[in-house]
Amino acid sequence: MTASSTHGSKADAGPTGELSNHSGRLVVVSNRAPVRMVREGARERIEPTVGGVGTTFFHLLEQRGGVWIAWPGGKTGRTRLPMPADDPRFALAFVDLSERDIANYYYGMCNRGLWPLMHYMVPNCHFDRVQWTYYERVNRLFAEAALAETSADDVLWVQDFHFGLVPGLVREQQPGMPIGLFWHVPFPPEQLFRIFPWRSQFLSGMLGSDLIGFHTRAYVNHFLTCCERILGLPVNRTRGEVLLGSRTVRVGSFPLGIDVKHFALVASSLKAQVRAQRIRRGLGSPFIVLGVDRLDYTKGVLERLLGFERFLEANPVYQKRVTLVLIAVPSRTKVAEYVALKRQLDELVGRIVGRFSTDGWVPIRYLHTQFGDSELVAYYRAADVALITPLRDGMNLVAKEYVASRLNDDGVLVLSEFAGAAEELTEALSVNPYDLDEIAIRIKQAIEMPAAERAERMKALRAKVSRNSLEHWSQSFLGALAPGMAAAPPAEETAAASA
Ligand code: UDP
Ligand code: G6P
Repeated sequence: MTASSTHGSKADAGPTGELSNHSGRLVVVSNRAPVRMVREGARERIEPTVGGVGTTFFHLLEQRGGVWIAWPGGKTGRTRLPMPADDPRFALAFVDLSERDIANYYYGMCNRGLWPLMHYMVPNCHFDRVQWTYYERVNRLFAEAALAETSADDVLWVQDFHFGLVPGLVREQQPGMPIGLFWHVPFPPEQLFRIFPWRSQFLSGMLGSDLIGFHTRAYVNHFLTCCERILGLPVNRTRGEVLLGSRTVRVGSFPLGIDVKHFALVASSLKAQVRAQRIRRGLGSPFIVLGVDRLDYTKGVLERLLGFERFLEANPVYQKRVTLVLIAVPSRTKVAEYVALKRQLDELVGRIVGRFSTDGWVPIRYLHTQFGDSELVAYYRAADVALITPLRDGMNLVAKEYVASRLNDDGVLVLSEFAGAAEELTEALSVNPYDLDEIAIRIKQAIEMPAAERAERMKALRAKVSRNSLEHWSQSFLGALAPGMAAAPPAEETAAASA
């Protein structure tokens, strides 16, 4: 279900009359900025960050200007940065968080509480009252920053599970401001969400929005059921609405897309082509299977490796002929579950490599690092198969980036049925990542797929990814939130206004 099909007539009509011909600015709130400030003695270095939201909004605000409020990702003396530094298109405003805030709000409530809860991983959930009070505090700090940056004319677009309470806190002070909330992670079924001790307050905070977006129809339904059964509110499922008495909150599916043109451009560059050939030559196998993820227990990395091991066991003919390239981006390295996962992964890779390697062939190339676009795209180009096996994922942009980089309509995408992207990318080979035998079967099927079928599937996938681009996503969401905002003003205008 696409955003436009969910919201078609509503978006055209506009949520309220006064939002049409919107003249205000776009103000985005997210936890991550597209850069991280790293202090080295007296010097301060600016580093790019990795992850869905950072990548997404950098492109979006670069195109249309505005203000982006975020955590600097470290200590900094700066409160504001023009972005990008060499050709400013928008302003980045920092909310400075103390060590304690970060430990309790980010590492604690966000990453050990809400993250596993949203990904249906109940045994990993740690709920701690002190951490919750820090979550409330940091949400208040961001709401205050948003109020300081906005007037009633502006449109506020809040990102992700870090800020469930911000819409409600801003609404209290600015009752007329259009507020959108996009949820980049899944939303769990009501019976799972119920375990959250602050469930009612959390839902009420989210409902401060005018529009709440999820990646898929399933997450929309889960959220509506929570509002109905936990808060006892009337909901209209057909229209995607929660009725609050004086206000109606609209809830819809807006599947996030990628900057397709950017990936096509990088993929078509001579640099990427040459690098892809080098990667293939260096690996020395006729077939390359690729996995790319932040090192997160939701991504099914261990299951992928076990499935690959099973594939090698069941198909000795492919030993020496297939290499799995595993790009694992370090992530949340201070959280116990992530430290444990890294150890398990190291051990498992070591065991499989030790078991199967022979003269001149190593079955797994394990890269524990974060690549920039051009190196990553070279790997996308080099790989015959992308094996993407999250146990649960809001969307999974890597799947879409692989597709967008396959300019010759070749390559096979094997995609977990539990990634949000699976709702759209139905021409991928679908896999249940909990079924290791099925992973092994899909690897074989992908490698042996006739060229004509590969081309047919990839062509259809590429058409979908192109249609549902990042641009389409932001236009759909903003069009539904504040119709006058959807047509982006020239970036120069807004950059000047926000400076
Ligand atoms: N990524 C990157 N460098 C890497 C590996 C990944 O920049 O070495 C980016 C990738 O291009 C994608 C993002 O990280 O845009 C991962 O997004 P996804 O939705 O797949 O997962 P998330 O990390 O947001 O859970
Ligand atoms: C997911 C979340 C994002 C987050 C990203 C990276 O994509 O939805 O909000 O930024 O992971 O995680 P991190 O904790 O490093 O920001």
